[in-house]
Formats: sequence, structure tokens, C-alpha cells
Amino acid sequence: MAPTPVHFFSHGSTMMLGEESSSADYWKQCGDEALANGLRGVVMMGAHWDATGDAIEVSMNPSPGKQPVAYVHPSKYVDYKLEADLPTGEKCQSLLKDAGFNARPNDKFEWIHDTYLILIRMFPNKCPPTTIVSMNARFDPHFHMRVGSTLRPLRHEGYLIIGTGGAVHNLYRNVWPPMLQWRDNLAQPTPPGDWALEFRQSVECCITQNRGPALRRAITRLMKHPLYRDAHGTDDHFMSACFVAGAAGDWEDEGEEKGRLGAETWELTNMCNSQFTIGSWRGGLAKVGA
Ligand SMILES: [Fe+2]
Repeated sequence: MAPTPVHFFSHGSTMMLGEESSSADYWKQCGDEALANGLRGVVMMGAHWDATGDAIEVSMNPSPGKQPVAYVHPSKYVDYKLEADLPTGEKCQSLLKDAGFNARPNDKFEWIHDTYLILIRMFPNKCPPTTIVSMNARFDPHFHMRVGSTLRPLRHEGYLIIGTGGAVHNLYRNVWPPMLQWRDNLAQPTPPGDWALEFRQSVECCITQNRGPALRRAITRLMKHPLYRDAHGTDDHFMSACFVAGAAGDWEDEGEEKGRLGAETWELTNMCNSQFTIGSWRGGLAKVGA
């Protein structure tokens, strides 16, 4: 089959689960589209789980629990049943090992909001079979790009590959008082900082103006951007962008339409939650949300 689309989603703060936004609408739209096209399963890399040394782990907990989500009423997530896809987890480990990765199962891992927030928003009625692949704590962009390229063949089998991190995500530079005082994560008492606007623009340009291997080079190179460390106080929320570049940046992907910015939500003044889609179901143009 034609390769499925790949998403890079910025999950933002935990309150993106509890509050409505154009990003939440776009996630739902992407989920509806996946179900309408016979989605087989989801393979995700998040931003909150990493393996040490040279390892990469694959979620193999048959009944994963959920780590709690701060500032969100439990009714929004406690009863949502997560669907661990163990056969696909085995398949991912085989692909990764064959490519030379030190991949291993983790049968104790509890899922975290970076992944299940997105799953609840995309698939509110039922979680599709899902596999989570960890990051590696050395945060090497090329390593994570290669993880994505190794799992890319799953796109030909109906799996949806998703990276969930952040376009601009520096918790040290967020403006927290409106959220802490009034639970208002979407307040923008001032415009975002120039550094945030500038880096956000670079992310958009890299994803929407490059295809194929050029996309891989553009995304991994962003870690050398002069404002990278301003935009990402830590590397964890950028690794899944590299993973997505690997999954969507093969020579075969050169013929795809360029990546699209489907929605964007600023939170906490300086956190930019951009939502991108590269490729489309059955080669058709996906509708782009607001
Ligand atoms: Fe996060």
C-alpha cells in the first residue's frame, strides 16, 4: 500500500488534554482520517521516556497503567483503556535489532501523557493498537532519525507513525503565573519572545519546505540553530521530530507533497505547539485544519 502519513505533534502542557484548542481539533481530525482509511495501528515516540546507555526500549507491558496528568480532571483520562500492541512491539524490536540497535522490551512501562494525551484526543472512542518506542538519553539527533527510518517500512503496512514532542518547548522560559493562579494555560499576557517566534518559524520552514532526505538534514540540523537552546531547554521534546524526519524522509518520500502545518496553539506565552503532517492517506491531500 502507499505509505501512510506521519505526524509531528507538539503535545504542550498537560492542560492540552483538558482545554479545547485548534490543535485538539486537528488531532481529532487526523484520528478520524486514520480510522476512515483502515488504520492498522499506531507507532509512537514521545518525549518523556528514554533509555540509558546505547539502548532503545519498546513498550511491552500488556496492561499499561497511566501516569497521572497534573491540572486535568481525572474523568478526562482515567477510564480510557490503553491498547498495547505486543505483536507490533515484537516487530519493531526485530526491525531495530536487524538495523543494529540495542533494542529491548520493557514490560513494566507505564504510559505518560505525552503519548496518551494524543491518543485520547485523536481516538476518543477507542484506543487503537499502539506501540511506544523510547528515546535514547544521549539525545543524538541522527540516532533518532535512524530509528524513524528503520521503522518507516511500517508505513506501507497501514501503521500511523507519530512523534509527539514540541516545536518550541522550554519549561524554564514559559510564563507560568496565569496557569498557576487561574488555571489558564492559553493566556498570552504578552507576545511570545523573539527567540520563540524565530525558532518556531525555522521549524515550520524546515518541515514545509523540504522533502525526502533534505527533510532529514533540515530537522537534525535544527539542533545547531543559534536559538535551539533557547527554544529547547532540554533535548527531550525535540527527539521525536528527528524520529519523524527519519520516518518521512526517504527518497521515496520526495514525491510526496510538502509537510503541512495543520494547527498551532501557543501556551504559557512562549511554548509553541505546532502540529505537522507529512504525507497523506492513499496519496491524497489531507485536509488541513485551522
Ligand atoms: Fe511533554
